[in-house]
Amino acid sequence: MSALPYAEALWLGGPIATLAPAGDDPWGLLPDGAIAVSDGRIVWVGAASELPGGFTAAEVHDLGGRWLLPGLIDCHTHLVWAGSRVEEYERRLAGASYEDIARAGGGILATVQATRAADAGALYAAAAARLADLCADGVTTVEIKSGYGLDVGTERRQLEVARRLGQEQPVNVYTSFLGAHVVPPEYSGRAGLWIAFLADELLPMLAADGLVDAVDAYCEPFAYTPSHCETLFAAARALGLPVRVHAEQRSRSGGARVAARFAALSADHLEYADESDIAALAAAGTVAVLLPGAFLMLGERQVPPLAALRRHGVPIALASDLNPGTSPLRSPRLAAALGCQLWGLTP
Ligand code: NIG
Ligand code: FE
Repeated sequence: MSALPYAEALWLGGPIATLAPAGDDPWGLLPDGAIAVSDGRIVWVGAASELPGGFTAAEVHDLGGRWLLPGLIDCHTHLVWAGSRVEEYERRLAGASYEDIARAGGGILATVQATRAADAGALYAAAAARLADLCADGVTTVEIKSGYGLDVGTERRQLEVARRLGQEQPVNVYTSFLGAHVVPPEYSGRAGLWIAFLADELLPMLAADGLVDAVDAYCEPFAYTPSHCETLFAAARALGLPVRVHAEQRSRSGGARVAARFAALSADHLEYADESDIAALAAAGTVAVLLPGAFLMLGERQVPPLAALRRHGVPIALASDLNPGTSPLRSPRLAAALGCQLWGLTP
């Protein structure tokens, strides 16, 4: 970077991980680094010993030996919900499956019922407390999904709460519309009608109000088929919105192929994806978002196809999947540790 005589703020006195890999060093590690900021932008970063001569800064901060690294991005959360699923967790520990509970009207639908009954203030307060934990863990950008409303008013309320969190909390928020999470009770047995309503009416309305940054869908036999997802994603595309997919989490159900066909930002979970799915994601430039919290809490045994992801050069991200049913963890650092511990990822 160019030599500058002056910056607003300078940090010194600790290691800096730029995460720009250099040779054998995956961290871009500067053991004794310096970083200068003006106008909210990094204007210089390097070894402290190489700071340009005569450099001054209005504020100088001492890292005191602490590491400085880029802010973490938690790119898959269901942060805004009401109620508790602790009783469901006990049922699963006693042998009930996630699918059985969902088919009996529990699971995601239990959270839908509680979330519909909560007003915006209660949803905001609960979500802000969860978000504070994520921020304390190093998160500076978070993705937040709807999908616990599954009706017009509550889907909107979830997204409005997410937007307000982005305005009032020190974090960047990106929203995903997950109206295709499971089939709402009012549309039981008529999933296609709900999808048509989302595609033709609800999504365009929420998008027009600036509440939607991306569109997500849960592709799984007890949720939505690939063809449902495609109908919704065609509407997203017409609105210029990117998509992402909960894909191949519990079974190989076609979500990854849909993700690839729509050049999705991400395909998430992917435990049951096979080599050909991975090749399709690679060709589409889609990121694989792996969610070890849900894997752990569901007692899943099927490890995501890491070797294939690496072979095909698919970028891998980890996220918390923060949600009340399958991944109540408020820490992407813990998600990263679980990825290492459960699947053998490298730090
Ligand atoms: O990412 N898979 C669907 N959505 C969540 C689970 C949501 C829930 O069970 O409430 C997930 O694991
Ligand atoms: Fe999820």
